[in-house]
Amino acid sequence: MNSVLLQVNNLTVSVADRPQRRLLNQVSLSVPADSIVALVGGSGSGKTTASLSVMRLLPPALVCSEGQIFFKGVDLLTIPDQDVLSVRGKDIAMIFQDPMQAFNPVLTVGAQVCEVFQVHTDLPNAMIRQKVLETFAQVGLDDPLRAFRSYPHQLSGGMRQRAMIAQAVGVSPSLLIADEPTSSLDVTLQAKILDLFIRLKEVLRISIILITHDLGVVRHVADHVVVLSEGQVVESGPVKDILSHPKHRYTQQLIGVL
Ligand SMILES: Nc1ncnc2c1ncn2[C@@H]1O[C@H](COP(=O)(O)OP(=O)(O)O)[C@@H](O)[C@H]1O
Ligand SMILES: [Mg+2]
Repeated sequence: MNSVLLQVNNLTVSVADRPQRRLLNQVSLSVPADSIVALVGGSGSGKTTASLSVMRLLPPALVCSEGQIFFKGVDLLTIPDQDVLSVRGKDIAMIFQDPMQAFNPVLTVGAQVCEVFQVHTDLPNAMIRQKVLETFAQVGLDDPLRAFRSYPHQLSGGMRQRAMIAQAVGVSPSLLIADEPTSSLDVTLQAKILDLFIRLKEVLRISIILITHDLGVVRHVADHVVVLSEGQVVESGPVKDILSHPKHRYTQQLIGVL
């Protein structure tokens, strides 16, 4: 049996000055070790809010008013801010849709990926550089040294995406949260990045929460799927069950357009 890496119980997120306005309502989900869980739902269903909650990065206007987020058995909602800093980026990493946002345009990509190692490890700089080059190779950057020395705008979209993934996974987090990471890519590139996610899971044993509204993506990479609608989980389970017997109208509609 797989152990559970992340267990979210009855998570409720509200607007701080309007507690009746719930962006997430009693959301429960679990991420087994060594698995890819797809978090699916229409625009505004609460996918990003759920991932920001796990990262303890909700904007001040939003509050977790109920629930628990157990990561490796510890409730992240109860630990001090200081302790969150050693989990975020180190044991749980997040990537977003737009790799341009992840990088500062005036620094080289290499310097920015090194920074994660400087913050989260005690390695000397020469070793960090070596680790970053190795990670670049692992994520499929053909010329790691060139990528290392480039400024973000000098890389192609696909290379930037890979560099962003390297930045997130270099220090070997247990969990990667990827918020619509492929929706800005063309289909061929999307397939390559999805294959990279599968490799990260199988080779580096990183579990992934993959946020998407594309059931084709779910079918290709995910083990489990959680369907959100208006801040509530309407359906969840193994991908093959959900895709072959969708119960909720929203899921049926998504499958209908495949
Ligand atoms: N800071 C905020 N204050 C109030 N409402 C917000 C805030 N951030 C997001 N929302 C609302 O929360 C809902 C869920 O948003 P989000 O989690 O971004 O959805 P998704 O990622 O699934 O598109 C949306 O209706 C959005 O307008
Ligand atoms: Mg979102």
